[in-house]
This record gives sequence, C-alpha cells and structure tokens, in this order.
Amino acid sequence: MKIGIEKIAFHVPNNYVEMTDLAQARQVDPNKFHIGLGQDQMAVLPYTQDIVTLGANAAQRIVSDTDKKQIAMVIVGTESAHDFSKSAAVSIHHLLGIQPYARTYEIKHACYGGTAALQQAHDFVACHPDKKVLVIAADIAKYGLATPGEPTQGCGAVAMLVSAEPKILRFADDSVYYAEDVYDFWRPAGHDYPLVDGHLSNEIYVESFVKVWEANKKLNQRTASDYAALTFHLPYTKMGRKAFAAIALEMSTADQDRLMAQYEHAITYSRKVGNLYTGSLYLGLCSLLDHGTLKAGDRIGLFSYGSGAVSEFFSLIVEPDFKRSLLIAENEALLAQRKKLTLTEYETLFKQKLPADGGTYEFDDTSSFAIKKISGDIRYYREA
Ligand code: CAA
Repeated sequence: MKIGIEKIAFHVPNNYVEMTDLAQARQVDPNKFHIGLGQDQMAVLPYTQDIVTLGANAAQRIVSDTDKKQIAMVIVGTESAHDFSKSAAVSIHHLLGIQPYARTYEIKHACYGGTAALQQAHDFVACHPDKKVLVIAADIAKYGLATPGEPTQGCGAVAMLVSAEPKILRFADDSVYYAEDVYDFWRPAGHDYPLVDGHLSNEIYVESFVKVWEANKKLNQRTASDYAALTFHLPYTKMGRKAFAAIALEMSTADQDRLMAQYEHAITYSRKVGNLYTGSLYLGLCSLLDHGTLKAGDRIGLFSYGSGAVSEFFSLIVEPDFKRSLLIAENEALLAQRKKLTLTEYETLFKQKLPADGGTYEFDDTSSFAIKKISGDIRYYREA
C-alpha cells in the first residue's frame, strides 16, 4: 500500500518587513541578512492571529467537504502553543467543520513537531487505509527586537493531508533518527521568547545532520546520487547550505550541482517568509515542488531538526502527475498580495499582545479565522 501526501498548502500572514529596512534600522550591512543569513523578507503576525488562525487558513486551502468526512485524525505540530492544556488542533478541527469522531491533538518538540506529526499520520493510515489524517505544522518565530535572532524570525503554517491516495509524494519508510540532550534553543514556561545559544544551535544542527546522513547511508545503503533533491529545516536559508557543505566533499561535482540547484528552488518561499519553526522544512518542500525540476519516481531527502535536540532524515518519492495537485499560482499570489510594513509598524505590531486579564475585548481584524474576541481567557475566532 502506498501512503503519503495527497495535498499540501501553506499560509503566511498578510504583513512582512523588508530585511534591508530591518538591517538599516539595526545599523547592520544589509548583505549580512540577504547573503550572510539568506533572508530577504520576514513575515509578521498581528496579535489578533495565532497558530490556530495560521493552521486553519493553511488547512482550509486543501480540505474539501469530502475530506472533512474522511479525516479521522488531526495533529498540530507546534512550539508556539498559547495554552498548556487545550490543543490548537481541537480549535482548528472545529473551525474547519471536520467530522467529530476524529483523534485530535497537538505535539511538540521544537521545530521537529511537524515531522513527528507526519510520521504518526503515516502509521495511522497504515492501520486505517480508508481514513485520512490532517497534519498541520504552525509556528510563530519571535526572538525580540534588536536581538541576534531578530532577522531569523517569521511565522506561518503548512497543512498536509496524508492518505493512502498520495497524489504528490509517498513515504519511502526509511527514517533514521538521532537525539542528543543539549541546550541550544529552549523556551522555559513563562518566557515570551526562546533562550538561544545561536552559534551552538548552528553547530548542533550541522552535527545532527551529519549523524543522520551517515546513519542513512549505512542503514539504507544510499549515497547522494540516489537523491534528486535534499531539503532541510530552514531557520534561515543559509543554514541548509552549511549542512550541505558538511557532506559536499564526499559527492561528485554533478551530484553537488544537482542538489544545490534544487536547494535554490527549495528556499524561494522561505527567503520571503523567514522561520516557521515546525513548518520550515515543509515550506521548503512546497517551494521545491512548485519550482524544482522533479519527475515521477524522484527521491527527495528531508532533514528535520528540532533544537534540544532531535533530528530525522527520511525520504519521500515523487508521484506521477504531482504538479496537478499543487497550488502554485495561488501560492505566488498569497505572497505577492502581502503588505509591506514600515519599521515603525513592524515594531508596533511586534509589541502588541492579547490582553491576559480575563476581561472581554473585541477586535476588528476581518481576516479569515482571526481572533474576534477574547473573554475569560477564551479566544473566539471568526468563522471563515
Ligand atoms: N555580508 C555577507 N555576509 C555577512 C556579512 C556581510 N556584510 N556580515 C556577516 N555575514 C555573515 C557571517 O559571516 C555569517 O556567515 P556564516 O554563518 O557562514 O559564518 C552570517 O552572516 C551570520 O553572521 P553572524 O554569525 O555574525 O550572525 P549573528 O551572530 O548575529 O547570529 C544567528 C546569527 C546565530 C543565526 C542568530 O541570528 C540566531 O541566534 N538566530 C536564531 C537561532 C537559529 O536560527 N539557529 C539555527 C539553528 S537552530 C534551528 O534550526 C532551530 C530553529 O529553527 C531555531
């Protein structure tokens, strides 16, 4: 039985800031952000939107009325939860009108949550081939104004429908994993922003990639020439390049050229959005599918990394006619229609927070699924 991704779509908010403007405001050479980090624009979320609104909007793009009857599991991978108990998944399940007899929950390990969710979806469909699973990877990456992490912020969500009718990509069942207890990036309870040892996080990312790459070579008997493309978790788009450089010397020039050319296709969207934490690997996958030169049967290697640190390397195989199931024009339109913020507007939005005093407040954000009211610390979302 084939299991895989039947549909995939992302959502990003309607606001962004130009990295050149941010660099100038922080008195940094813009090339540090554009070349040194590989980022051109950064998505910015209004305080009236959150992982529920991001996730619901992404899922709304792919889930049909028929799917809503067949979806028997909804999993949200995130590290931006606003509630330690109730999951974002149950709110999204409600907003989308998915049939009620669905296993619905949230899952966490830093930027790895989306991959954990995707693999659980695979296992569920293996046991229940007539059912579908909605996987959402949604996050808000925020480090604070004028911090080293600021140019690597971003936000958004990717939704994937996993089923036994994989019209886009099928699993190859070849995952290898690695875990190491390290404090490179973490967010203790009560902290608005993560604590991060940025340079250590870069190092652990690359080390983890090399570990799973080596394990993959040994366990699955594969080399670089088996892959049409490699995609990476993208906290900023230079990061995948650094990991690739760590293994480049072991491969032929032809392999290096092919994989680097596909890498450029895989980072197109992330350059304009920034870090989605759990969604970043899958925004890269969307970009590769939309822009890359792929054909049926091609193997895509995916490196998932979650600080703290866990990682997984696995592959997905391209299905025939996959392009027919993509939303390429809509994806481009979603990015093109966004509003560019001035630095003052960005900093104002950044500092705004939902009231947390238990009172009742109403908001006038009319975008789909936006928070329309908060009362008694319950968020009420606008129906789409
Ligand atoms: N022109 C071109 N390049 C320039 C430049 C210029 N004028 N000035 C600097 N650069 C280059 C530097 O040489 C450097 O390149 P290399 O990494 O290839 O050496 C790059 O720009 C960044 O410069 P610095 O290392 O000096 O930047 P920094 O100290 O300000 O911090 C950072 C960079 C550590 C990534 C920081 O932004 C950060 O902490 N970000 C958050 C953590 C993060 O994203 N970590 C990634 C791995 S962890 C992970 O993947 C999980 C996750 O999602 C968070």
